[in-house]
Amino acid sequence: MSAVSVFAPAKLNLFLAITGRRPDGFHDLVSVVAPLTWGDTVRAEAGTPGEFTLACDDPAVPTDETNLILRAARAWAAATGWAGGATFFLEKRIPMGAGLGGGSSDAVAALKALEALAGPEVRLAPMALAGVAAGIGSDCPLFLTGGPAVMRGRGERVGALPPEPAGRLTGRRVLVFKPGFGIPTPWAYGQLAAGAPKTYLPAEFAEARLAAWLADPEAPAEALLLNTMEAPAFAKFVALPALLDELRERFGLAPRMSGSGSACFALLEESADAGPAVAAIRAAWGPSVFVTEARLA
Ligand code: C5P
Repeated sequence: MSAVSVFAPAKLNLFLAITGRRPDGFHDLVSVVAPLTWGDTVRAEAGTPGEFTLACDDPAVPTDETNLILRAARAWAAATGWAGGATFFLEKRIPMGAGLGGGSSDAVAALKALEALAGPEVRLAPMALAGVAAGIGSDCPLFLTGGPAVMRGRGERVGALPPEPAGRLTGRRVLVFKPGFGIPTPWAYGQLAAGAPKTYLPAEFAEARLAAWLADPEAPAEALLLNTMEAPAFAKFVALPALLDELRERFGLAPRMSGSGSACFALLEESADAGPAVAAIRAAWGPSVFVTEARLA
């Protein structure tokens, strides 16, 4: 194959509990994450052997060696010994600094594209591929799984949800919206560390709450929603709780922040008209707001 196109979905954290800081400086977490039907596209063409280049339709996206696509490509080439090269083109839709996993998803899409370009004889074993992905970013292993999953550790321990309860999530309509500003993930984790220990939800509480939701087939997606990264983000970025309160009061929605923010989301009833809520979001956050409708995949 000489050219390939791979979809790179955004993700939402429906449940995110940061349970403590690890000796390596990262944080342990328990999270239920679902990919969306909406995201970026990574195209790859066979290029000059040993060279990886990246172009993007959004000039704000760095296309140098800091981009996770190129880091993933180099790590994969080192792990496989593949002597080929590739030219990547990224169609960017997922905003950056959003907690929507865009950079990680792009990197995993690049790994999948390289596997397709190089052919089956260069393929890594699934565990080895997961190891390469985990070295690129904490959210990368998740995107190798597909469908709703539970993440543990710093994000490297990922397991797909069984068909039930995954069926309570897959296909749900969701409104995703982000203010003009983003939140850097290291800042968000730094705030949790600074407020420790009260900023962490002990792992036994997080696991008990998750287990209760998993075990109750009547519990809807709404009953799962939790994000312990909201408190420090909301304390500094007051535009977030102000709008989420308004959406709760005026439209009966149950909006949450995704990951380390600043994107937020609200599950929508199938028959609901999202128009008035979208108008309220635009009125509150102005012209730089990002809004899209999608479904959990
Ligand atoms: O792995 P990733 O590049 O997404 O992490 C960005 C930063 O977020 C890390 O350098 C670390 O400060 C923080 N982080 C963390 N615990 C995690 C994931 C990320 O402390 N599980």
